Amino acid sequence: MGFYSETILPKLCDLAMRNKDLVPYRKRVIGAAEGRVVEIGVGSGRNLPFYRSPVKQVLALEPAPNLIAMARRAQHPNMPVDFITGSAEAIPLDNHSVDTVVTTWTLCSIPQAATALAEMRRVLRPGGRLLFAEHGLAPDKNVRRWQDWLTPAWSRISGGCHLNRPIQLMIEDAGFRVDRVETGYMPGPKPMTYMYEGSASPG
Ligand SMILES: C[S@@+](CC[C@H](N)C(=O)[O-])C[C@H]1O[C@@H](n2cnc3c(N)ncnc32)[C@H](O)[C@@H]1O
Repeated sequence: MGFYSETILPKLCDLAMRNKDLVPYRKRVIGAAEGRVVEIGVGSGRNLPFYRSPVKQVLALEPAPNLIAMARRAQHPNMPVDFITGSAEAIPLDNHSVDTVVTTWTLCSIPQAATALAEMRRVLRPGGRLLFAEHGLAPDKNVRRWQDWLTPAWSRISGGCHLNRPIQLMIEDAGFRVDRVETGYMPGPKPMTYMYEGSASPG
């Protein structure tokens, strides 16, 4: 790993994730979590302050050591958080061992997203839920064109972020049943801000 990806990118990620427009999404998604939770790609820990009972434990998975170091400094009063250095493509947890999987602004940058979603399904208990808030492929033709055109360069400077992933389809292709999804643009440039927020069951 070079200086850019090891030192600059984690700081850029943290800066981008401090955007106040993301907070309502975080509150809704984390507010629906319960029991033993694994958060995929916890980043600098911007969701951690929002965990409350009925969440009992948060397992914070993240491959980037510098982001884990930042997340360790995030506030999470009265909530046990265990940090795990690892990748979503090989979640180091037993089958059916968590009640909730949380993923926010992460599916865009996981290299093998289909493998990661299969792993999320594997670790969820029957009746558990995948809670997500992710940006991805927009419905508008001209926005999609920009998303496809920008993604190769954008991905190189942003740590692998794809602007054009069909989030709902990917979740369904992994065998989840999507129980609720809300879509729409957040404030900001349209290619970067088409959101999918909702919940899915392992089926
Ligand atoms: C834009 S940040 C979002 C961070 C955090 N989820 C949030 O909402 O603030 C994308 C995150 O995905 C993580 N990521 C990238 N590849 C991953 C992988 N293979 N497994 C797990 N997380 C990954 C990055 O390290 C980074 O923390």
